[in-house]
This record gives sequence, C-alpha cells and structure tokens, in this order.
Amino acid sequence: MAEIGDIDKRVGLLLGKMTLREKIGQMVQVSYRGGGISDDLKHRLREGRIGSMLNGVPPEINAEIQRIAVEESRLGIPLIMGRDVVHGFRTIFPIPLGQAATWDPPLAEACARAAAGEAAAAGIHWTFAPMMDIARDPRWGRIAESFGEDPYLTSRFAEAAVRGFQGKDLAAPDAIAACAKHFAGYGAAEGGRDYDTANIPERLLRDVYLPPFKAAVDAGTATVMTAFNEIDGVPTTGNGRLLRGMLRDEWGFGGFVVSDWESVAEMVAHGFCEDDKEAAQKALAAGVDMEMQSSAYADHLESLVSEGAVPGKLIDNAVRRILKVKFGLGLFEKPPIYAASSSKAPSRENLDLAKQAALKSVVLLKNKNKILPLSKERSPIAVIGPLADDAYEILGTWNRDGRIEDTVTPLAGIRKLLGDSAEIHYAAGLEYSRSRDTGQFARAVELARQSKAVIFFGGEEAILSGEAHSRACLKLPGAQSELIEEIAGAGTPVVLVILAGRPLTIGDVSEKVDAVLYAWHPGTMGGSALADLIFGIEAPSGKLPVTFPQTEGQIPVYYAHKNTGRPPDRTPLTMLEDIPRRAAQSSLGDAARYLDIGYLPLYPFGYGLSYAEFAYGGLQISSDKIRRGENLRVSVQVTNIGNVDAEEVAQLYVRDLSASVTRPVKELKGFQRVRLKAKQTKTIVFDLSAEILGFHDGEMRYVVEPGEFHLWVGGDSRADLRAEFQIVE
Ligand code: BGC
Repeated sequence: MAEIGDIDKRVGLLLGKMTLREKIGQMVQVSYRGGGISDDLKHRLREGRIGSMLNGVPPEINAEIQRIAVEESRLGIPLIMGRDVVHGFRTIFPIPLGQAATWDPPLAEACARAAAGEAAAAGIHWTFAPMMDIARDPRWGRIAESFGEDPYLTSRFAEAAVRGFQGKDLAAPDAIAACAKHFAGYGAAEGGRDYDTANIPERLLRDVYLPPFKAAVDAGTATVMTAFNEIDGVPTTGNGRLLRGMLRDEWGFGGFVVSDWESVAEMVAHGFCEDDKEAAQKALAAGVDMEMQSSAYADHLESLVSEGAVPGKLIDNAVRRILKVKFGLGLFEKPPIYAASSSKAPSRENLDLAKQAALKSVVLLKNKNKILPLSKERSPIAVIGPLADDAYEILGTWNRDGRIEDTVTPLAGIRKLLGDSAEIHYAAGLEYSRSRDTGQFARAVELARQSKAVIFFGGEEAILSGEAHSRACLKLPGAQSELIEEIAGAGTPVVLVILAGRPLTIGDVSEKVDAVLYAWHPGTMGGSALADLIFGIEAPSGKLPVTFPQTEGQIPVYYAHKNTGRPPDRTPLTMLEDIPRRAAQSSLGDAARYLDIGYLPLYPFGYGLSYAEFAYGGLQISSDKIRRGENLRVSVQVTNIGNVDAEEVAQLYVRDLSASVTRPVKELKGFQRVRLKAKQTKTIVFDLSAEILGFHDGEMRYVVEPGEFHLWVGGDSRADLRAEFQIVE
C-alpha cells in the first residue's frame, strides 16, 4: 500500500491542477438511471463533474462509465463506484441482525471479507455498510440491517465488518471501502417509523448510539454516511457538532463523509433550509464531503464560493479527503475494470461460509420435551408454510446481487439431507406470507395429520423489513397464525421456524407449537443450515441480539434500561385478570410496568437454547478492588451438562450501583463463544478493563467513577451468577 505521506503528496499535486468545477465534481455522487449512458451523463463525466456513482449500475455499464471518466476527462480521475453490499454480494449471508445473533464477530468479519472479494471483482470499490444504528424498536424495518440493541455487541460487529470489507490493505484487489452509517441516531426514529425524528439526549447519544461509530473509526473505516433524521431540531446532514465536532475533532476521523440519499436537499423539507442552495451551504459547513444523489452541491457550490458564502478552503479539504480514499484504494494504479466480469457464481468456500454463518445465527427459542432435533425415523414428515420453498424471500432485505438459483430453500435443504431415508410431504398452505386465502389450509392440515412431525416455515417476506418498511403490528402477517393453529390442532408435533427481518410478537403461536427456531433471513445457504439444525447435525447456538417484546405496546423494551425510583419488581405483580372489581388503588402496587403484561419481555436479550445444557459455576475475580487503568480478571467455569457437543455464548454483564448520573441495570461488557463436548468443562477468562466501565457525566466528559459494581456471567441477560467489586481512587 502507498505510504500516507506519499498519498498526501499526490493528493496535493492533483488538487493543485484542479479547477473549482472539477473539485466540486469530486463531491458529487449520482445514480445510474438505466437506459444506457445518456449524452448528459457522458458530458458530465468528461467535464469531471461527477466523482462517484452508486447502485443500479450493471457491471458492463459501470465499466464504460469508468472508462469515460478515466480516459476522456481532463485529469482522468477515476470514479469511486459505490453499492449497498450489505450482507453479501452474490453469496448472501444472514441479514446483519442474524449475523449479530451469532455473537461471533470474527465470523462476520469473514463474511464481509468474502462479500468484498465478490463485489471488487465486479468493479465495486465502496460499500454502504456496515449499518451500526442501535435499534431498540422492532417496528423499525431497518432493525434487520442493524446488529441489534446493544452498543457493546454492535461495536464488536461494526469493527469486524469494517476490517472484513477493507482487509489489511485497502488497495488490495479484494478490498472495498467501508461506510459506517447512519451517523447518527437513525435507529431511534419515533414510533419506529423510518425517517422520523430521533429524540436522544446527548448523554444517551454518547453512551449508547455513538460507541459503534467510534469503534468503526478506530478500525479505520474509510467513510461515514450521515442519516435522514434530525436530532433536537438539527438534521444530522447539517449537524456540525456531530460531523465536525465529534467525528473529526474528537475522534480524529480522517476519511470522508457522504450524505445519505438526497438527505442534503431533504433539509428543505425538514424546515432547516430555505432552499437547496442553503442546504448545500449548511451541509458543507457541517462536514458533508460528498452529496449522494440530490444536486445541491453540483448546482450551487460554485456560486456559493464566488459569492463568498462558502470558503474555498472547505471545498479543498473535502476534495482532499475524497481523493485520499481514492488513492488509498489504489484506484489510480489499479487498471480500472473495463471488462468487468458479471457477477460470478459463488465459490464453494463462500457457500460454506454462508452456511456456517446461518448455522450460528439461528436461535432456538423453545424446545418442549426435547422434540428437536428431529429423528430421521419420524417419517413421514410434513414441510409446510409460505417460506418453506421460497428461494427469494429468505435472502432478506438489501439483496441486490444474490440469485435464487444459488439459494437452498428449507425444503431443498431437508430433501438433500434426508435423501431417501424419510418420506417428505410439502404444502405451502399460504401462497405468500401476507396471504389471507385459506383455500389451501385443508390440504396442509391433512398432510399434518398423516405425518409424524410438521416443520412449519413462516415469518415475513423480505419486503416487510428494511428501509421504509416499518410495521405497527408485529404479529405473523396474513393468515399464518390461523394456519399454524389449525395444523397444531391435528395433533402432530409442530416445529415452527420463523424467517423474519425483526423480532415478531410470536407469544401466542409459540404456545401452540412444540419448538421454535428463529432463523431471521438466513441467506443463500439458509435452507441447508436449517436442515442440519432441525435434524441435529449441529446444535443451535445463536443468541438474541435484541429483546423480544410480548406485544407492540411494550416497545421500547431493552435489557439495559434504568432502574427508576419505582423498579418494576418492587411490589408483587397483580395482573389485570386478578384485579377484583373496585379494587383499591394501593392494592395494585406502584411500579414501572403494565397491568396487562407485567414487565418481562417475551424473550430476553442474549437468550437462546441449545440441544445441550450449560451450567455456570466457580465465578472468580482477580480482586475486589481495581483502579482506573487496571483490569479485572474474571474467570468462570462453563460445563456442558447435556449429551451432545455444542457451542455456548458466555456473556458478562456489569452494573454500576450508584454514580453521578444513573446507570443501566445491566450492561454487556464481554462475551465469548465456546465449543464444549458433552460433559466437558472449560474455564473462560474475561479481562475487564476499568476503562470500559465509564460513561459521560454531567459535563459530557467520559469518566470512570469510583464506586460499587456488580458483575454477572451467564448464558443470557438474566444471568444471576454474581460477583461484586469496587473501583477505587
Ligand atoms: C439508504 C442508505 C443507502 C443509500 C444508497 C439510502 O436510501 O438510507 O442506507 O446506502 O440509500 O442506496
């Protein structure tokens, strides 16, 4: 890779040759609108008025566009070609929320590495990923693209994805630039409605929403994307405190910032700018280096400079940062991919990796009477459900380049695994997940009746999660619940497999079935992985990266909440149905909870069963007092007390009992995935640094305050094996 000093020199030399118009051109990103390369596009490319293109560009067109930019423009500056390579390119890995459920960041890093290799081979230089917005509201469709609700877990995945996409050397032929998005607070959209206002006090922003971005910056992300939302009256795309203050000045981010799609011009609709011209000025002043899709920069920056409203230095600095990334990617050296190969079929290694990721992402939520794993002797088997044999929907949101012909559906996976050893009958029951047509119910129920086990694949189609796809009702869509109920009524044991982009409120249907596997949208090899899990080739080991609510009215519900002055369990719980008529007010207790559902979630953060069982014991800490700058060594013994080999994710949580500002009741501060043979015990060691026990105080300084702490280790956020320690001066 070229030396940084060397790159700075080359950037400086190039900048010196550029006209103002060419400089502004580097700050302009447009999408290809289909229909060939228009004369207008050719003209703008030749004039150096475009610095980047995104999405929708077929490789052949991509190559020709790049050729024009490099060979026919005055300075021959290559375009940086961007695309949403979110959870795979041709090989589709589980959606990010599913990857987070693996609690295996090195595995996610490998997935990003593989995706980068496939994308780079098709002429892509830059992905708009990873998304690291903290998501505590499953109504929000983009929770599918997130790593869930927790800042620590999300940070580990954010840095892993950045390392995976960019590799060790950004200039390597299989590396692409990452983009940490959406900066910031986008996941806190009011009511879970995409694009809506985020109300986030500064401390919460700093303690919860920003740490993943800091981790991505520390991991060397080349770019950062702003968000659509406003926080406290200021759209993030025009937010200098965030973009310059925190990102550049506090954290020393040296890459470039791109807006989100038209989010510069949208500052007019926000009511933050009078017109596009003001939007261009405010976005640049705030620190947006490149404008995605809208044309405020292209249309107005030149006049803003000549009028003296925008200092030329701001433009030079933005262009310098963009060119630096282009040089860093080796775009000036790499022969631009003129004969870009169309996307190649996935390699064996990438498919194996996709299967590994899917295997580890699936969470076993229920397993009554150990019905799972199913024995192959349970024949005939009925495979039912709208998602049992759908090769498209299981790829999930942001699937741009995956193909159904590469995809193994659950039905195909089961057929392949069982071969002739079992009789398999299939009925969709419903044509697609939202269908309310009960016409095929009778056949599905009949099949269930004739079989020894039913495996039902339901959930959400890909289109129901992702951008702009929020839902207010989180039940299984269409008539799926009714179908499951009828099937369960047939008396045959039912295994329910949910494929979805978000937590669904599946409490009712779960009660009617024997087992529940939550598989998210598991990608190209999802069906093969599910077959292995259902028939016990592997034991499930995924853990929830997000709390599952009982019902929508309980949202937001997350494990790291505050205790409040009246904690939910401070008085015995009286449920709605147990309240006598005209009960006295005082008899109901007075705590932070609901009369109708109490306060517990359907499933807690970190939760996930296995075919084995794990016992935790022998918790030891190296000292009961540590100072700032020191580490606490925590060791614990985990034993597989089950009969099969399996993996467990041991989780470490901490609580700061009293501080200058209140702290959450529990916070994840470490986790480890371990493989344990049946009956095997392993000692796991965590090195907990005092440094990560801090928070932002009243003056927004990051502080590690002395005081009492509790620490727990266990298999989910309800972990109750506890130790106590202090941080001392
Ligand atoms: C999304 C971004 C995405 C961009 C480009 C926007 O609508 O919010 O996450 O990277 O489009 O496709």
